[in-house]
Amino acid sequence: MDRKVLLVTGGAGFIGSNFVLEGVRRGHKVVNLDALTYAGNLDNLASIEGNPAHLFVRGSILDGALISSLLTAHQPDAIVHFAAESHVDRSIVGPAAFVQTNVTGTFTLLDAALQHWRSLPVIKRDTFRFHHVSTDEVYGSLGPHEPAFHEETPYRPNSPYAASKAASDHLVRAYFHTYGLPVVTTNCSNNYGPYQFPEKLIPLMIHNAVEGKALPVYGDGQNVRDWLYVADHCDAIFTVIERGRLGETYNIGGLNEQKNLDVVNILCTILDELCAQGAPHSRLITFVKDRPGHDRRYAIDCTKLQSELGWVPKESFRSGIRKTVEWYLENAKWVEKVVSGQYRDWIGENYGSRT
Ligand code: NAD
Ligand code: DAU
Repeated sequence: MDRKVLLVTGGAGFIGSNFVLEGVRRGHKVVNLDALTYAGNLDNLASIEGNPAHLFVRGSILDGALISSLLTAHQPDAIVHFAAESHVDRSIVGPAAFVQTNVTGTFTLLDAALQHWRSLPVIKRDTFRFHHVSTDEVYGSLGPHEPAFHEETPYRPNSPYAASKAASDHLVRAYFHTYGLPVVTTNCSNNYGPYQFPEKLIPLMIHNAVEGKALPVYGDGQNVRDWLYVADHCDAIFTVIERGRLGETYNIGGLNEQKNLDVVNILCTILDELCAQGAPHSRLITFVKDRPGHDRRYAIDCTKLQSELGWVPKESFRSGIRKTVEWYLENAKWVEKVVSGQYRDWIGENYGSRT
């Protein structure tokens, strides 16, 4: 892809920061708009601090005037929209923030993008892109033998998080069909890798295991997720920005279904090898009260992305999960900073009532 100017929202979060780092590495200029909620962390971007190819702006996607001024000042070729409240358990405890950020925030961003796009000369209008980053959770839950989610699977969101993302997807679609805004949406499965906030399954289990704390597996641990290494997700987004068809949606998945309990046991085995003093870490596995409305199985059919645009995931789960454990062990200071303060309140709130 030619050098582009990208306006990235949520670029201090897990996937967003991986995308920003990769974007700068690929030679793009990135304007990074992030509100720095509990999930946003400038330490993720320390390696590009002072790099003129990256401009960080602290601000919200709910601030239409700010977005308009950034669009006018930087004339981006594409908006890549990651910013969201992203944790299902938090959406169960406090859904309002999810509606505000994911629905109203996406609407505000779309509206500012539309006004800006309409003001562009025709040649710029033709190449402009609004890339919306979404999730497989909008499709609901699969039975054990049902075929994987494909782009035509009906939306059946089950958590407030999934419902808010579904609403944002519908708004993005409507801005294409009604106003012609050049949008593309991707719906991805569960990501893992560096810089993931340790409220999510994989980093939480690594952190707790290292600390000798209980590994809280919800319900019977047989829920299935389709895990994708974060760099592969970022690569898919670059591919779709470059060659995806306007108004289309593309599913992104890891071709890698795993039961939660198996994932936790794999993590324990790697940690037994790398931190032998805590072995066997599997002794810490504790079954706790299930997540309400817990989706049983996600699986993604990404044939469209593979056959149309030639994308394939490069990382195997075996190598990716090992790299991830090593990253968390080597970045103990990053983890330490993240799990101080407000993090403790969340752990108390979410897990206190489960045991
Ligand atoms: P995250 O929670 O790690 O990061 C979200 C980022 O958005 C944070 O930096 C936060 O500060 C920022 N943010 C929140 N509200 C904002 C606002 N009002 N204005 C500007 N910035 C704001 O999330 P993530 O896991 O990196 O997910 C990124 C996107 O990818 C989300 O849209 C999510 O729905 C989607 N997604 C995530 C996964 C996954 O497995 N993590 C899978 C598929 C899709
Ligand atoms: O599928 C994509 C989605 O994946 C993204 O849209 C979300 O933003 C992202 O958070 C993720 O959602 P999940 O709910 O699948 O991820 P989480 O890491 O929270 O949980 C993964 C599985 O592990 C899920 O079945 C619940 C279970 N779990 C989770 C936690 C935090 C546990 O058993 N114990 C835990 O402590």
